[in-house]
Order: sequence, then C-alpha cells, then structure tokens
Amino acid sequence: MACLFLSQVDDPTAWSDAIKQTLPDLDIRTWPDTGKVEEIEVALAWRYPPGELLRYPNLKLICSLGAGVDHLMADPQRPKHVPIVRIIDPAMTDGMSEYVLYGVLRFHRDFHQFDAFQRDGVWKKLGPRRARDCRVGILGLGEIGGDAARKVASLGFDVAGWSRSKRTLPGIQTFHGTDGLTSFLKRTHILVCLLPLTPDTAGIINARTLAALPRGAYVINAARGGHIVDADLIAALDSGHIEGALLDVFAPEPLPPDHPFWKHPKVSLTPHVASLTRPATAAAQIADNIKRQREGRTLTGLVDTGRGY
Ligand code: OXD
Repeated sequence: MACLFLSQVDDPTAWSDAIKQTLPDLDIRTWPDTGKVEEIEVALAWRYPPGELLRYPNLKLICSLGAGVDHLMADPQRPKHVPIVRIIDPAMTDGMSEYVLYGVLRFHRDFHQFDAFQRDGVWKKLGPRRARDCRVGILGLGEIGGDAARKVASLGFDVAGWSRSKRTLPGIQTFHGTDGLTSFLKRTHILVCLLPLTPDTAGIINARTLAALPRGAYVINAARGGHIVDADLIAALDSGHIEGALLDVFAPEPLPPDHPFWKHPKVSLTPHVASLTRPATAAAQIADNIKRQREGRTLTGLVDTGRGY
C-alpha cells in the first residue's frame, strides 16, 4: 500500500516527515513520481490537475491537505466512490479565530482609519464605542465559525451566526436557511464569512445581501474568494454603503495585479494566510485517518459529498 502526495503548492518533505512521526513505515510518493499506480491507496490532495485521481484504480481514501474541499468538489472526474476527509486541526481553527478577532477589532476600534490618518499626517481621535454595541455576524457555524463566534463573543461583542441548517451555540443568536439570512444581515455591523464554498454559497455576498446590511457595515472574508461578487462589493464600497473590507481570499489566486481590490482605499487584503495548514499539527489527523481506513473504522472529518463540505 502506498500514499501519494498530490499537491502543486505544498512542501512534500514537511508533510512526509510529519506523517512519518506516526506512521514511520508508510510509503509516501510525491506526484508525479507515482511508481505503480495500482499501489496507491491514499491520496493527500490539494490543487492538483483535475482528472488526476482517476489514474489510481485502488484508491481508497482522499485526504484534503486543508480544511476546505471545494478544490476536490470542483474536479468533475474525481472518483465518486472514494471517501474524502478534510483537516480538522485545532491549531488551524485557532489561527482562523485570531484572524477574525483581528478583523473585528480593526474595524471596531477604527484602526483602518488610523492607518489612513497616519499616512496623511492627521492627528484625529475617533470613538469610543463599546463592544457590546457592535453586532458581529458570522456566516458559517461549523468547527471554525463556531470557534470564531465564541471567541468574538468572549470580548463582549453582540455575536450572531448564520448556517444553512439550524444550529444552536450557547450565547450566540443563531439564524438559518434562506429565510433567516435577511434578518441576520439586517442586524450585522461586521459580517464575517467562514462558509464552505458550495454551489449554494457561491456569490452569497452580492448586491442583494450587501444591501441588507446596515449602512456603514464592514465585510471580512476568510473563506473563499468565490463567496463574493467582487463588482458588487466594490460598488457597495464606492457608494459608502459598506465602509470597509478585510479580504484574505480571492477568485482567482494570486489576486491579479490589476484587480481593483489592490488599490481600493477601503480594502485591506492578505494573501490567503488567515489560517495556514501546519503539517506539524495537521499530519496527526491524516495519519490517524489512514490507520482508521486500514482498520475499517469510522473516519474523522468525513466530507458529505452531497452537501459539498
Ligand atoms: C484551507 C485553506 O481550506 O487553507 O485549509 O484555505
């Protein structure tokens, strides 16, 4: 049995070393040096050439090298019978919550304005405002969104969350489904998107949903670029309806050099670093799933391919 490292962007040595801490004898091959394709039973996949997974007739498990699996769902030739697991790593969840906390505090405490004042040599005070008067809305209440919601609420912010189906979280007001989305947006000053990208959520931040936010609201996107209709966000920023955006993810990536987000005065951006996958912490779950698969036990982080996450 062999495992194939199938990523054009990740470091095979770091992953292989980390997985071998738990499974020292695992035969890990790095694409495109696959050896005999029939020996490959596990693929560790991220941003690979579509159709590639069809070449392995004995593939039994696909491990996404990240929390998101939209890259796998987007491959029309993915072998549909092979289970997919995604990474659920507390260190990644912490990293994402840190990014969200930073974004919420940046806008709530006007740091985006103070950056601009400093550039212009302006000494001007703004505020103060209380956290409890600032309503933060988290789109997506899974592992990552739930953690961010709890941590933002722990600072005193008035936090609500929206998910596709009903969820409850202590201390967090929750909304769900299409019907709940407008009420959720209407009460949200700082909108944070942490949703998985699926056909249902693609373009969820668009002219209609932005218009439902109160005037002067902010947008933070650390999920996927495909959640935002870029032209609609730019129009809402230009009209003053949306006061600022912090964006970590884009469609496509890298963000093209001539994209208006780069120079927009109301946009702060980071290069998809909100929460990077760390082989040192994430590899343990992958190794554990390889063992589970071999032993016929339940996998962790199993993706519901019907829902797409
Ligand atoms: C992920 C990511 O999905 O890095 O893990 O975006």
